[in-house]
Amino acid sequence: MDDSRVQLKELNCRSYDKICNAQDDYRAALDLVSGRLAALSGQELRRGPAVVELGCGTGECTCQLAEVTQSVRITAVDCDERALNCAERKLASKSLVGKVSLVRADAMTQLQAWVGERRYWDVVISTFTFHNWDIEYRTSVLTLLVGILGRGGQLIIADYFPRDVIAGTAAFRMHVRRLFDIMAPLGELGLLREWVSHTIEDMAPSRIMYEDAAIRSMKDVGFAAVHCDRLSELTAVISGKIPLR
Ligand SMILES: C[S@@+](CC[C@H](N)C(=O)[O-])C[C@H]1O[C@@H](n2cnc3c(N)ncnc32)[C@H](O)[C@@H]1O
Repeated sequence: MDDSRVQLKELNCRSYDKICNAQDDYRAALDLVSGRLAALSGQELRRGPAVVELGCGTGECTCQLAEVTQSVRITAVDCDERALNCAERKLASKSLVGKVSLVRADAMTQLQAWVGERRYWDVVISTFTFHNWDIEYRTSVLTLLVGILGRGGQLIIADYFPRDVIAGTAAFRMHVRRLFDIMAPLGELGLLREWVSHTIEDMAPSRIMYEDAAIRSMKDVGFAAVHCDRLSELTAVISGKIPLR
């Protein structure tokens, strides 16, 4: 995969976190996802759940997931070394290092390895990472996820899932305006340029994930009880479960 498409080249972790946290959707998505994990940990699993986070980035979601229960064990995967270094520092500052293993790898390569090892997980969580992938890569990842999730295992994806072309175009327009509002006062023009061009790529037909198609693609590979929680015109959390039999 072309690295320039999956990484913000001028990624500066502090600026990245500032921008993400200034977006209402982002915090709401992390709260929803970590709330789900907390509920699951309490109700459905006797021991602490084994969780994979795909595309952990600078560790914002990772820290929130690690904080939800005492017993949760997280393996967080990302291909970007700078982002992982930032995640490591953040985990250390919150005394969460022992609960999280950070793995530098391409997501698909790592999933293939786990399928080969017959390594199973209870929950896979991914926030704002799937939209970086074109449809073929996403479908392969979804298929591999079915292979690593045990029966009853759950996949929870928070990302850009507009309902349709009209809603998506309007939502991305607002998103770009928001990027200007946040980054121009910070003087982060290089970063702004990268984010805007990245956002345009996010709207490519091979990349954009409309809600219905995303739900269908999860059902097609074997997920059941696929459900969408909408947070805004752009952002939603889609989750599904591997049937018990
Ligand atoms: C937009 S960031 C989201 C980070 C984090 N989940 C969050 O919510 O802040 C997407 C992350 O996915 C990672 N990523 C993209 N494609 C990847 C791949 N094929 N394998 C592993 N990580 C990938 C990028 O390096 C980046 O850190």
